[in-house]
Amino acid sequence: MVRLEGWERLRAKGGKVIEPRISGLGVYVPEKVMTNADWERLVDTSDEWIIQRTGIRERHVAAPEEVTSDLGVHAAKKAMDDARITAEEVDLLICATASPDTLLPSTACWMQPKLGLEGKPAFDLSAACSGFIYGLTVAGQFVRSGMYENVLVVGAELLTRVMDWQDRSICVLLGDGAGAAVVSPQGDRGRILGSKLHADGTYGELLWMPAGGTRMPATIETVEKRLHYYLMRGNELFKIAVKCMAEATGELLQELGMANEDIDWVIPHQANMRILQALAKRLRVSWERVVVNIQRYGNTSAASIPLAFREALDDGRIKKGDKILLVSFGGGLTWGALMIEW
Ligand code: UT7
Repeated sequence: MVRLEGWERLRAKGGKVIEPRISGLGVYVPEKVMTNADWERLVDTSDEWIIQRTGIRERHVAAPEEVTSDLGVHAAKKAMDDARITAEEVDLLICATASPDTLLPSTACWMQPKLGLEGKPAFDLSAACSGFIYGLTVAGQFVRSGMYENVLVVGAELLTRVMDWQDRSICVLLGDGAGAAVVSPQGDRGRILGSKLHADGTYGELLWMPAGGTRMPATIETVEKRLHYYLMRGNELFKIAVKCMAEATGELLQELGMANEDIDWVIPHQANMRILQALAKRLRVSWERVVVNIQRYGNTSAASIPLAFREALDDGRIKKGDKILLVSFGGGLTWGALMIEW
């Protein structure tokens, strides 16, 4: 059978409405685990401070020979297996990352040959911690329009290599990992009902990497000043995070004609346990309905939502028909909410 692709598919589908679904989900974390006690030996911090202020107990750290695309490839292969599709059937690869292999080419392009997707379109999406929700939304539009059938969305982060191991205000928070979803019209689960995306670049300097781009090209001085690492004003971010995520959720619920009580599960970006508790309160969702695994992974940016999602599927918490809210917030600033019916 000849597979139609791109605009050919678009023309062939006529006026038919195509519903995008998550037909496969896979995750990967590197083997090595680093505990709070390990950080106590490296910077002026304590297990008590980290747990009280963030909820984090441990995080995974990539091996020296691993790069972001490797983490993404592991997760992508599992997502393809879960969706029961071959590389041949993937039409597009999107990689959401804030810790790319290189600035040029994209991490998606580094991943592509490792996945046997040579020749297929591939690009990166830069939306920091909101990358997975942005990616699912973009993929959903390609599927809905009929242009592509199977879109692979990967959230992959190797944050321990872009953070300053001497800056205690950020290093204890971050971890490495990857998650991937196949978005397609196939199957009877994972229907994407809608999403709301937002960004506000006026707050760009609350979480950024100052040097290494055209704004501040790399020099000996930028390296000496440690400007090639993430810089975060966590306290200011904290205050905006809950408000933005709650507002995006409110807008989404209104658009879908749903109420807060209709949400069965909240799967938020895992940035800070206290942010998640405040969000649950604001959304009037009981804490048991919030999927939380920050204790074991820390903040893995674009990978954190799929890591929590896969866990709640595997342990049987999520049942068929459940309404699942994915909600995130991160550098950019970017934030968004996306609703799924499982
Ligand atoms: O991924 C999405 C984007 N990121 C976020 O949304 C992160 C949001 N922000 C946060 O999660 C929190 O603001 C942090 C966990 C980053 C910080 O918690 P906080 O309660 O806001 O602490 P703070 O920044 O106000 O710092 C309180 C104190 C300071 O000491 P002084 O000035 O009170 O003496 C810090 O120097 O804690 C100190 N501190 C630490 N102490 C021990 C900062 N980092 C550490 C540390 N260990 N690792």
